[in-house]
Amino acid sequence: MGSPRGQFSSRIGFILAASGSAVGLGNIWGFPTNAAENGGGAFVLIYFVLAFCLAYPALMAELIIGRYAKSNISNALQKISDNKATKTVGKVAGLYGITIATLILSFYGIIAGWMIAFFLEPLFTISGLSAVSNWLTHSGELRNLLFCALFILLTVGVIRAGVEQGIEKWSCRLMPSMLILMVALIIYVLFQDGALTGLKIYLVPDFQQISNPKLITSALGQAFFSLSLGVGTMLIYGSYLSPDENLPAMGAIVTIVDTSIAFLAGLLVLPALFVAQQQGLTIYNEAGSLIAGPDLIFQTLPALFQGMGLIGIPVSLVFFCLMTIAALTSSISMLEVPVSYTIENHGINRHSATWLIGGLTFAISTIIILNFDHMFDFIVALTTEYSQPLLGLMLCIFASWVWNRNKLLDEIRKGYPKVEASIFWKIWPGYVRYCCPALILLMFFQTILNS
Ligand code: TRP
Repeated sequence: MGSPRGQFSSRIGFILAASGSAVGLGNIWGFPTNAAENGGGAFVLIYFVLAFCLAYPALMAELIIGRYAKSNISNALQKISDNKATKTVGKVAGLYGITIATLILSFYGIIAGWMIAFFLEPLFTISGLSAVSNWLTHSGELRNLLFCALFILLTVGVIRAGVEQGIEKWSCRLMPSMLILMVALIIYVLFQDGALTGLKIYLVPDFQQISNPKLITSALGQAFFSLSLGVGTMLIYGSYLSPDENLPAMGAIVTIVDTSIAFLAGLLVLPALFVAQQQGLTIYNEAGSLIAGPDLIFQTLPALFQGMGLIGIPVSLVFFCLMTIAALTSSISMLEVPVSYTIENHGINRHSATWLIGGLTFAISTIIILNFDHMFDFIVALTTEYSQPLLGLMLCIFASWVWNRNKLLDEIRKGYPKVEASIFWKIWPGYVRYCCPALILLMFFQTILNS
């Protein structure tokens, strides 16, 4: 395909790349622990409903705008606007989205770096270098800096090679490998003592929790983060998609893959927690709720693997390899946002743009690492809790209020000629126009009230 700005060469390439962006630490870590904290099956149920009723429509807005504009979020929002005021708002919102994508990558890179360190740990343990393995698993600035740099280098390596040779090729290699590793681990964990208790907590809904506002806002936030919405990631992937593809179907497949993998991750992480309990580890914190945050991934699970004896070594390797792969297919989509902007708006070639933005991201990560206690939580909240929903709102407004509806319809028609007669077209336009903005605002105010 001779497109000068790069294009996915196949449908499956796009599906794996976009699902790769969606499936990440948010699914494997965030989803199961959120479920455990918020009433198990009740959360899973609400999450699925929200993923399809709110996140999917917003995802469609990004994909359609992206494929029409064939450009980054800032240019795209200007292109679909027809007056000066909305063009200016579009440009500013786009630039804000690009900044947020870069900031998300800068904290995501730190966490992903820890995954690499924990992946390497068993290798040093079996080689008898316990001082090194100790260093790898204990938080320290040098370790954090080195592994964050390594992870960002991996991300740069993929993005430098472009859409087809980088993003598509690596997503097609990494996504199936990740799925195989995950299924293998689930099978193993489910056969261990204690696993069934975890499975019950995960799957049996505590219906009393279903109307709990905290459950709903957590599920909404989780759905937004998981589908990589708001900052122009899905928009730029959409811009590399061929006009012949059926956009509503592509979006639906990506949503289904993302939610299914989140669901699978729950089958792994929660049973593993209760296997750990069976082995004598503490899995409830002082407040009486299940251990969720970093302690779960970096203390409870490693302790569980260690307690398993020899088999714990491959299990730990596989688990952290899975986490690193999931993080990498997501981080490449984050880096592509500022890189595509730099290429398209500043005439810099892909190679230099990637190094430049990769370097800038690492500089930000360094500042966060050196001021970890003050900055980390703040950056996470600023980007994911406040900015992502607001940007998602902006995208819905641009797709449904600002953009000319006939042009939008023509864009979907290219790969789906009968769209006008479909239920998608009966529901979606009104939905992104009224329901999505209202729901996003509701979630946003809940977040502010809770903070
Ligand atoms: N969706 C990914 C996850 O679940 C993370 C991610 C990739 C992301 N691109 C994004 C999050 C853009 C927010 C915005 O881990």
